[in-house]
Amino acid sequence: MSQDILVAGNIEVAFGGGRRLFGSARPEVKVLRGVSVRIGRGETVGIVGESGSGKTTLGRALLRHTIRRIVTEPMRFHGVAKDSADAETRVLEIFERFSLAVACLDRYPHELSGGQRQRIGIARVALLAPDFVLADEIVSGLDVSTQAQALNLLKGLSRDLGLSMAFISHDLSVIRAVCDRVYVLNAGEVVEEGACEALFANPRHPYTRALIDAIPLPRVDPNWLGRAAATEILA
Ligand SMILES: Nc1ncnc2c1ncn2[C@@H]1O[C@H](COP(=O)(O)OP(=O)(O)O)[C@@H](O)[C@H]1O
Ligand SMILES: [Mg+2]
Repeated sequence: MSQDILVAGNIEVAFGGGRRLFGSARPEVKVLRGVSVRIGRGETVGIVGESGSGKTTLGRALLRHTIRRIVTEPMRFHGVAKDSADAETRVLEIFERFSLAVACLDRYPHELSGGQRQRIGIARVALLAPDFVLADEIVSGLDVSTQAQALNLLKGLSRDLGLSMAFISHDLSVIRAVCDRVYVLNAGEVVEEGACEALFANPRHPYTRALIDAIPLPRVDPNWLGRAAATEILA
């Protein structure tokens, strides 16, 4: 039995190529030229080289599963899909529902936007139809409109599948958008617990009040606006 955990032979990666929108051909730049790597079980292998030598590209190539593999493998593992045709049908259904282009299936994660990756992560959950999901800061790092999109999908999913979910977030506005009930944790203790809407309408604990007050609101202070306009006129 092989003692290798990873064997990759003759990896070639090139960027560019093709034509620009108007006119000239885009030169293709070969970044990896036939790189072979073997990593033994329990072995730590260094990949070293100057900046731009292709280390990160190689690292990504070693994990490069396509999106198709990323979404179908857990279904096969958990015995959710009968066979690969069944898996593909389910994937296409969910991609349509989540407005994900079928072309994404043959892409690699780093080729997609953060929002697409997030929707694919949620699609992966939907395909497994679990009873319980632990979602830990799953929308932090996304911009607000991408967050809203992902949260709407998640809400629809939990309604349709009857999902139970522990939704962990440092962001109360995100909690408010998706949760039924909430526990407010401060320094390792629950300081307040209750139905989400009631807690927002009438926070009892000062810590909860402080958290709610810290939510940025799109409110314009008329005095500030007046001053800014005045400054502009004077200048
Ligand atoms: N998405 C990309 N598009 C075009 N060129 C890229 C892309 N990613 C990396 N490169 C180029 O590939 C080369 C290797 O980059 P990289 O793997 O990030 O090197 P390293 O991690 O060793 O600094 C660099 O010349 C870089 O500009
Ligand atoms: Mg790098």
